[in-house]
Amino acid sequence: MRIRGISVPFDQVNYPLVSLGIFEGETKLKGVSIAIDNYLTGLLSEIIASKEFENDRISILHSRGKIRRILAIGLGKKDEYTPDVLRSAAGKVTRRVRELELTSFGFVLDQSNSLEDVQALVEGSELGLYNFDKYKSSARKPEVKEMGIFLNKRTLRKSRDIVAKGQIIARSVALTRDLSNLPSSDCTPSILSSYSMKLNKRGKVKVKVIEQEQMRTLGFGGVLAVARGSHEPAKFIILEYAGDKIGRSPIVLVGKAVTFDSGGISIKPSEKMNEMKHDKSGGATVIGVIKAAAELKIPLNLVGLVPATENLPGGGAYKPGDVVRFHNGKTAEILNTDAEGRLILADALAYAQRYKPQAIIDFATLTGACIIALGNVASGLMGNHPIVSQRILDAADRTGERVWELPLWKEYKDQIKSDIADIKNTSGRAGGTITAAAFLSNFVGDYPWAHLDIAGTAWTQDATPNRGYNQKGATGVGVRLAIDLLHNWKPLS
Ligand code: BES
Ligand code: MN
Ligand code: ZN
Repeated sequence: MRIRGISVPFDQVNYPLVSLGIFEGETKLKGVSIAIDNYLTGLLSEIIASKEFENDRISILHSRGKIRRILAIGLGKKDEYTPDVLRSAAGKVTRRVRELELTSFGFVLDQSNSLEDVQALVEGSELGLYNFDKYKSSARKPEVKEMGIFLNKRTLRKSRDIVAKGQIIARSVALTRDLSNLPSSDCTPSILSSYSMKLNKRGKVKVKVIEQEQMRTLGFGGVLAVARGSHEPAKFIILEYAGDKIGRSPIVLVGKAVTFDSGGISIKPSEKMNEMKHDKSGGATVIGVIKAAAELKIPLNLVGLVPATENLPGGGAYKPGDVVRFHNGKTAEILNTDAEGRLILADALAYAQRYKPQAIIDFATLTGACIIALGNVASGLMGNHPIVSQRILDAADRTGERVWELPLWKEYKDQIKSDIADIKNTSGRAGGTITAAAFLSNFVGDYPWAHLDIAGTAWTQDATPNRGYNQKGATGVGVRLAIDLLHNWKPLS
């Protein structure tokens, strides 16, 4: 969709629909909304007085004038407003515009005219139009081709870059959603690595893939163990983006990409097992973040590490009771082959240390327990560096991608000691999200590290809160958050 800021009287544009947001209980109109009210000979203020604008509620007012429809959407209570409210409303609006088969519309931004809001509006409207319709044979609705954002002159002058930024971010989230939504048969580790290779064409991104043979030399016992039950070879994808001077220490992003998680020999129940095509979401997030960072020319060096494998119970599969040795020499006793994510992340985190990173941040659909703890509302955060964790919490607040921190105390690390190896890959249900993170903590050395468990947020599930910019399926969670984090990044002294 083409998006541009405009600063002309509202009736001098040729849009078949103009949309505006209204706060609950708001009575005084300002800016362009006053002109719209006059255009509708006071109808808007009458409807506002009737207080029907709850959050997300849409009313469409028709007119005989040039602009045939005015779409008003509730933005909830003014003192509860955040840019995410607008992002959500924008997603809902663009989808409605498409349903109406209109190809252009205007959006009035009277609330604040802040650049933050412009970015949220751009992201929300683009993400609202996201479709995963690759496998649909019937024709779809015509695409919405243009959105004009009514801005005051001051904001307009500064809006160009922020519009472009919002669009880059939205397209990267769309890539992440696509990779997560793809059926596992159409996104095996090999196929995922070819998708990653496409980023190679863009300047300053280098993508390499480590094959199984080399993984053996490197001692990637975790990835290789999980891959043994499948005919599909594992791939270890490395994406390097050089946005800063050569030699400046990078931030390493690690993403779990289990392209299908059947549980392996410790097989999962078949109900909802289909959803485990999304178990590659962490890796998909990392790929999306690298794409966005490169296009935004973020002035940092970044490395993305994406261990990719299937977890299947084939004849060669690894088994409960096995002992696995990882890249850093540590060993783990396997008690449940369904706790596979931590095994492939262990090798990746250990490998991350070779970059002497400023920080390591991993994204993984790691534990069902995280859904029990936080539901589908927030991602779980655990780490070893309060400043990094706080920065992530701040980025979460700014982006609306909710995150909640769980403790990573020594007691949890003790819980996963093994009788026969250094550690074991599960210690039962108690504190399952934290003991998984405790497992990972064995592989990051002393480097600042944060782990995001996105099991409950990477795709829409039973209790996913309604957001206008999310549809059924993958959400692309983490991309907006990570870009915000990196955009505001400063060296950790
Ligand atoms: N990919 C799953 C976690 C998951 C489950 C994410 C459901 C989203 C929805 C992970 O590999 C897994 O199976 N974890 C096990 C760990 C257990 C065996 C210790 C789990 O959570 O049950
Ligand atoms: Mn599993
Ligand atoms: Zn898994």
